[in-house]
Amino acid sequence: MALHEIVLMGDPVLRQEAEPVADEEFGDELRALVNDMFETMYHADGVGLAAPQIGISKRIMVVDVRDPDEPHKGKYALVNPRVVVSSRKREKDVEGCLSIPGLEEMVERPWAVEVEARDPEGNEVLIDAQALLARALQHEIDHLDGILFPDRVSPLKRRMLLKKWKKLQEED
Ligand code: NI
Repeated sequence: MALHEIVLMGDPVLRQEAEPVADEEFGDELRALVNDMFETMYHADGVGLAAPQIGISKRIMVVDVRDPDEPHKGKYALVNPRVVVSSRKREKDVEGCLSIPGLEEMVERPWAVEVEARDPEGNEVLIDAQALLARALQHEIDHLDGILFPDRVSPLKRRMLLKKWKKLQEED
């Protein structure tokens, strides 16, 4: 297993539409990549990570929302995921992103989603998610489409976020 470097907002890979994983790509290499992604995510203390965030423009993502009541319930590695149903009910909650460290903002999203995907073995999975898990899945699927959370807030809030980001980058 290996830790990968997490790329930051401003890197063009985060703005690309990631490529689907083909049938022949399922196997040991994909499993190893998913393990690396979990390790990288835990090391950075994140709840989700998408392959573009480690510079790989492929439709692969991991999440672990670590529900203290059900420790394994919120852990998923998903390949070629897509949202098939979104609830009309929406909810605002605070979001951050490992590729935009130091920034957080309230983001409104559907409260519940159904996500179709394949697991790293190639099996089809359907996830019925609400609340934090639904939010994490939507955030990571956005990454696969080149969308970052500041794209999901009002133009005014976005300007403030980008200004703060620029300032943080200049301080480094
Ligand atoms: Ni993110």
